Amino acid sequence: MSIVLHPSFPPGFLWGGATAANQFEGAYLEGGKGLSVQDVTPQGVLQPRTPAPTPDNLKLQGIDFYHRYAEDIALLAEMGFKVFRFSIAWSRVFPRGDEAEPNEEGLAFYDRVLDELEKHGIEPLVTISHYETPLHLAQTYNGWTNRRLIDFYEHYARTLFERYGKRVRYWLTFNEINSLAFHPFTSGGINTPKEELSNQDLYQAMHHELVASAVATKAAREVSPSIRIGCMILAAPFYPLTSDPRDVWAAKQAERESYAFGDVHVRGAYPGYFLRRLREAGVNLKITDQDRRLLADNTVDFISFSYYMSMCATATQEVKPGPGNLLGGVPNPTLEASQWGWQVDPIGLRITLNDYWDRWGKPLFIVENGLGARDVLVTGPDGQPTVEDDYRIAYLNDHLVQVAEAIADGVEVMGYTSWGCIDLVSASTAQMSKRYGFIYVDRHDDGSGTLARYRKKSFSWYRELIASNGATLRP
Ligand code: BG6
Repeated sequence: MSIVLHPSFPPGFLWGGATAANQFEGAYLEGGKGLSVQDVTPQGVLQPRTPAPTPDNLKLQGIDFYHRYAEDIALLAEMGFKVFRFSIAWSRVFPRGDEAEPNEEGLAFYDRVLDELEKHGIEPLVTISHYETPLHLAQTYNGWTNRRLIDFYEHYARTLFERYGKRVRYWLTFNEINSLAFHPFTSGGINTPKEELSNQDLYQAMHHELVASAVATKAAREVSPSIRIGCMILAAPFYPLTSDPRDVWAAKQAERESYAFGDVHVRGAYPGYFLRRLREAGVNLKITDQDRRLLADNTVDFISFSYYMSMCATATQEVKPGPGNLLGGVPNPTLEASQWGWQVDPIGLRITLNDYWDRWGKPLFIVENGLGARDVLVTGPDGQPTVEDDYRIAYLNDHLVQVAEAIADGVEVMGYTSWGCIDLVSASTAQMSKRYGFIYVDRHDDGSGTLARYRKKSFSWYRELIASNGATLRP
């Protein structure tokens, strides 16, 4: 395998980090905010929920970004961030989700966040919906199974574009839109328990989200021509477990589960392989002529994705799916795993970038990548608390070397925002101890801690990397 000796990133490459409102804002009922589906899922997105918020849900307090945003953004600026990805909590703007008028206090909070970013010259990258459907929409309409959600989402998105469209250039419509099948409640506000959800309802909900994404793209272009809209896909290359052609086909099929979402967003229509899959599952999607036109006429400007791991697929062997992220594939015997069982595969990122570029030919934005690990706080040489997180530096370095390789392969990459740039609450496990950040937050799984922020060793590593536009990477 060739290695680029001098990693080269284009001028203006957007270096930064990513977060989501429900995992870091806290203040879950302040400023007129309503409840979201996350406020009632104390065990993480994959677990059964409780009907009401419980104090053991670490997400309710998050890491208190709601009150500490100025201090936090100053720290990101100190690292030289060019871009900061965050989501707007839908239920902060429309507490129930179906109101005619937005909650001014919620909108004003994001004005203040944008003021702070502007002060430091950091470009915002906003996710409109990151697993944060208002709870009322889940309980009253059964979330995205109901077509009316398209109108509520359009109203919400248009409100955001009108308010912030001149200040925010880059927008993502739905976080990991292909995750609906894995956690329908948190991804799609679907109240029906996963085991009871029919394929018909599941895929109809998926269709509604895809149409809503197109409707938002249309609205954005009407409001402000400078806006750039991206879809956001949970990416994971699938490798055949063996060279048996049946395993190769199984891997292809597994990847198409995600490709379908990009195909619709980029090509504006459902691909044939996906329609076959629906037919065979007995699903009869209700697609109107207007839906078809909306999808065809409002394709995205760029494709963003999260990348944490690759997986294997097999049709020939009985292998249990390993622990891993939401997709849960067969483990790869050649790879090591993180403390949470997520297999580490930097080359998989180069493969993903090349595959997506070859398939769609649209600019790509890596909006999540990183290592969730247990950190130990120690006293640094300057007497300040810190974390010697060489494992995180190695993980990020190795992945970014593969990004440089992909750029050398000719792939157009807009930027890279590492996940959880400041420690936040895990989505899949709702733990604080699964940390991704360059900045340590003094908060623990039992809810204790001062919430103080400390710079980890990776903080200065990333600062130097950004300042050199990637030249300090070690191939
Ligand atoms: C992605 C989500 O799937 O993975 C994030 O978009 C999430 O919200 C991230 O936090 C990492 O997962 P986890 O479970 O380690 O927090």
